[in-house]
Parts: sequence; C-alpha cells; structure tokens
Amino acid sequence: MIRLCNVTKTFRNRKKETVAVRNVSFTIHRGEIFSLVGENGCGKSTLAKLLLGLLSPTEGEIFFGEKRLERKRELALEAQIIFQDSLSSLHPRMRVKDLIDEPLRIWKRASRVDELLDLVALPSSLKERYPHELSGGQRQRVSIARALSLNPPFLILDEALSSLDLITQAQIARLLKELHSGLGLTYLCISHDWEFVESFSHRIATMKKGEIVRITPKGKGDEETEPLALGGEQRF
Ligand SMILES: Nc1ncnc2c1ncn2[C@@H]1O[C@H](COP(=O)(O)OP(=O)(O)OP(=O)(O)O)[C@@H](O)[C@H]1O
Ligand SMILES: [Mg+2]
Repeated sequence: MIRLCNVTKTFRNRKKETVAVRNVSFTIHRGEIFSLVGENGCGKSTLAKLLLGLLSPTEGEIFFGEKRLERKRELALEAQIIFQDSLSSLHPRMRVKDLIDEPLRIWKRASRVDELLDLVALPSSLKERYPHELSGGQRQRVSIARALSLNPPFLILDEALSSLDLITQAQIARLLKELHSGLGLTYLCISHDWEFVESFSHRIATMKKGEIVRITPKGKGDEETEPLALGGEQRF
C-alpha cells in the first residue's frame, strides 16, 4: 500500500550536510502494523515527515497505492500522525470539542465530536475541557480522535506511548490495536521500545544512521490481528 523506493533525505545547513535518511526502500502493506526502531537521531521522524508530505525526498519516490506522493493538502485525508507529547501537539487554548472538530471544519465535513469521543472511549462530558485539564492518557485519546476525524487509512505513531506511565501505555496500546482491527487501519509505529513493538507489530524495521539495516518479518503479536467486531464494514 505504501512504498518507499530508494528514498534519501539530506538536510543542508550553511556548512553542514546531514543525510538523515539514506537510500531507504520498503513497503508497508495494507492493514499492517509496521514498526521502526532505532537510536536517537537515526532518521525515524524524518521518515515520518516524508510520508506525511511535510518534507520532500532529496532522492527517491514514495507511493500511496499507485499514486506518487506529492506535497499537497489532500494528504491529510490519507495519513495522520500522533506524537509523543500531546500537551505540546494539542493547542492549549482550544477545547476538546474544537480540537477534534477542527480537521472536519477545515474540510467542511459534518461535526461528529460525540461519535469520535466514543470511538476513543472518552465520556462526552470532557468535551468542554482544555488539554491541561486532562490526564496524559485522556489527552492522547483526544489526539487519536483528532487524527481519526477525517477517516485516514494510515496512521503514524511517533513514540505515541513514550510519555505515558506503564498502565496508561497498555490501555492506549489496546485502544490502538482495537482501532487498527475495527477500522481496518495501517500503522507505522515509531518507538525506542523493542519489547513493546515486538508484541504490537507485524514487522519491525531497524534503522541505523539513516539506513534500514534489518526488517524482522514477524512479531509475537500476529495472533492478535483477527478483526474485532466493531460494526463490520462500517468505518465509524
Ligand atoms: N530540519 C532539519 N535540519 C537539519 N537537520 C535535521 C533536521 N531534522 C532532522 N535533522 C537531523 O537529521 C537526523 C535525523 O533526525 P530525526 O529527527 O529524524 O531522528 P529520530 O530518529 O526521529 O530521533 P529521535 O529518536 O531522537 O526522535 C538528526 O541528525 C537530526 O539532527
Ligand atoms: Mg524522532
């Protein structure tokens, strides 16, 4: 479904040249949870930004299905990202209802705040709150609801669980897994935590200094990928 062909991204500042991503090729299949692990600065987030069209490759091409990825607004309908730190990624002066509704307003789609809150198992009583009035887990659920509001088939989780305590991590991981199966989503999961991605993913790519050095074909979580009955074909 998503194919990277010999993708390289070089950042050039006045004197320095950094090759953040070097000649990377892989395919993420539809419905797959594909994880990317690697040390700090190895190029994971740069790869995520390339896939979101926020950066253009210096060399190489990215395909979503048959379509070559271009930097354009429509990409919001194809791919969304959830960041580690929901306190800084959610606008502090916006209420939960407006945070969740904003992408729908921009795209002139009907509001469905209650439905999206329900999807991430948050009570609708929270919709008047501001991000700082929520727990870390509740905030991350709001980020997930916002990311899913336009119904994108592909989600990037960039260290989405890293700032949460262990119990909340497990709860959010379970929610993400349910949404993945129930809505038929495809994930790229970026993490430092090998143990977590092993239980969460179908395949794991290890990145080192901008290159993919290994792709492990199967994770332990494969037996958990049976679709859940969340309304059959209906995509919430
Ligand atoms: N806009 C930029 N300009 C110049 N260099 C950049 C830019 N963005 C990233 N880099 C460099 O590219 C390399 C890869 O950065 P990236 O953020 O992709 O790493 P990462 O794997 O996500 O790291 P972390 O695990 O810390 O999040 C680093 O050396 C970083 O300093
Ligand atoms: Mg990063």
